[in-house]
Amino acid sequence: MASILVVHGPNLNLLGLRETDIYGTATLDSINKKLESMAYEKKIDCLFFQSNHEGQIIDYLQQHKDHIDFIIINPAAYTHTSIAIRDALLAVSIPFIETHLSNPSKREHFRQTSYFSDIAYGIISGFGAKSYELAMLAGIEYCQHNCV
Ligand code: DQA
Repeated sequence: MASILVVHGPNLNLLGLRETDIYGTATLDSINKKLESMAYEKKIDCLFFQSNHEGQIIDYLQQHKDHIDFIIINPAAYTHTSIAIRDALLAVSIPFIETHLSNPSKREHFRQTSYFSDIAYGIISGFGAKSYELAMLAGIEYCQHNCV
């Protein structure tokens, strides 16, 4: 069975409460449940991990690398700072979609640098919680074509 890992970076555990004018009212749990049902419908396994800590995200990627085919990751603020998570994604060499609820390119200047975009399989941003669903559709398609 193919397996997709969904990684949520710092402060995304507060979705639904946090800056709802920017990030919307959907909770992380409701987003994960929707993604899980999309994947299971196509007989694809789905794992979820959220952390507010850079090292924990890196540890999780390293520990689970052998049974993951595709990654959907919203690195949140680490998008703009983390060479270490970038290196971890390069090290595990699993294709990933960089996903954002907002469109960082039209926000503050400091959000316009991403340490992930140039090594991503694709980027989806600006569609609120739907960004994750679009990423999951792409992930499912990838698995259907590339995973036995
Ligand atoms: C975010 C955008 C980041 O700039 C920000 O730090 C986040 C969320 C998004 O999903 O729009 O925490 O990744």
